[in-house]
Amino acid sequence: MKKITNICCIGAGYVGGPTMSVIASQCPDIKVTVVDINQDRINSWNDEDLDNLPIYEPGLKEIVSKARNKNLFFSTEVDKAIDEAQIIFISVNTPTKTYGKGKGQAADLKFVELCARNIAKVAKDDKIVVEKSTLPVRTASAIKSILQHTGNKVNFEILSNPEFLAEGTAIEDLLNADRVLIGGDDTPSGQEAKDTLSSIYEQWLPKERVLQTNVWSSELSKLVANAFLAQRVSSINTISALCEKTDANIQEISRAIGYDSRIGSKFLNASVGFGGSCFQKDILNLVYIARSYGLMEVADYWEQVIIANDYQKSRFAEHMISSLYNTISGKKIVLYGWAFKKDTNDTRESPAIAVADALLEEQAEILVYDPKVSAERIYADLDYLNTRSPEENRRLLKVTNDPIEATAKAHAIAILTEWDEFKTYDWAAIYENMLKPAFVFDGRRLLDTETMNSLGFNYYKIGQS
Ligand code: NAD
Ligand code: UDX
Repeated sequence: MKKITNICCIGAGYVGGPTMSVIASQCPDIKVTVVDINQDRINSWNDEDLDNLPIYEPGLKEIVSKARNKNLFFSTEVDKAIDEAQIIFISVNTPTKTYGKGKGQAADLKFVELCARNIAKVAKDDKIVVEKSTLPVRTASAIKSILQHTGNKVNFEILSNPEFLAEGTAIEDLLNADRVLIGGDDTPSGQEAKDTLSSIYEQWLPKERVLQTNVWSSELSKLVANAFLAQRVSSINTISALCEKTDANIQEISRAIGYDSRIGSKFLNASVGFGGSCFQKDILNLVYIARSYGLMEVADYWEQVIIANDYQKSRFAEHMISSLYNTISGKKIVLYGWAFKKDTNDTRESPAIAVADALLEEQAEILVYDPKVSAERIYADLDYLNTRSPEENRRLLKVTNDPIEATAKAHAIAILTEWDEFKTYDWAAIYENMLKPAFVFDGRRLLDTETMNSLGFNYYKIGQS
């Protein structure tokens, strides 16, 4: 097995950055270079002030400060890094296609293909190429076909090594991964490549947590894992709607079913809906793949997870509007949280975007507070929807740094991200600030019903009548 001393990762995003930082910190003998075409992003990774890293993740800046410029480097010199590396991770974005065949469902693989072509152009010696991005089953064969036709006699081994980290807990997830999945060919050289990559992870993870499979199982497992996780959230969220019509309480149900060891207790928190860059994209991709093989029932089954999620987001917004006497035009509504979950500054597919959009359609005046998301990002998310003009978005929605002052003369507050700090606020003071009746719509089940009611709020908690 080859001794690895130099690896590179193409894509310095939410996966590439934290993953490579952890590898560098755990493997001091390996030089790790993370490259990206986005100069601003690389500048932020190299910023002396670690509070300016492009990604907010608990524990990330400590790890970066330990390894950066020792054996961890961030650079835009993509070709140089490819040339020097023995292992090249591809960790670029694979968004849902917005054009052409498969529009709205299939994964857009143009960035991955560009990477493969670049590797083919630059490589002068044998390389292990690792798919770290989430890719449709059978993508490795496309990458292989591009790499094998270079005519420069370089041998490439393609591995699939999908990433299972969740944002907000990325460092913890990487350091204590439940499992690492490595898919590759069963040929002698394929096996050697799998063992080589395994040996890197085994520097800090127990051997039995590093699973080897064939490349197709690895690619598909990633989509299936996300589909199963999202399905749990949609399942509990549909039941939350039923709870609101009856006197059942969703938290009691989650607890009761979660005690069954076959079901398990995790991922049963009812919410305003799931967000994030992965769940929706990966399920849509799974649906597209199933349809393209003519498996319509399979596709319809998984598509329902997305339909239920969309229903949950619109149900929440509609409940707000109907509770506020069916008219919110000109009413001041404060949104607590914009990120798709706590402890991240990522807003991709955040349910807050859909809720805000629905409220803006009714001409509400919105004030948003999120401890980690910039105003620029919030406006970009809304403008991207194209529902109304950018000027109109800025006229109706403002972003604030002061969550308490924001509540002055507000009609309602909606909690859309489960940031811990919301629990510590002086809710009695907030109640005094607001117009009466003062409404709080809790889409994350963050606050205590009795306390909120006793303070005088009209308090709605998702999944409870
Ligand atoms: P991201 O958008 O944060 O980062 C991708 C980066 O790749 C960007 O900075 C972009 O500039 C760069 N890039 C694109 N094309 C390039 C090229 N040709 N050369 C150099 N750089 C290039 O994306 P992400 O969230 O890190 O996701 C990356 C992949 O990992 C996706 O396939 C995603 O599905 C998967 N994934 C994401 C998560 C997550 O929590 N975000 C978790 C598991 C898997
Ligand atoms: C997910 C997967 O968990 C991870 O393994 C994969 O690598 C990437 O996709 P991520 O999207 O970062 O990670 O966060 P996750 O914790 O899974 O949450 C996704 C969404 O579901 C969030 O909006 C979260 O608030 C929501 N959620 C999660 C719930 O509403 N209820 C739950 O019980 C759990």
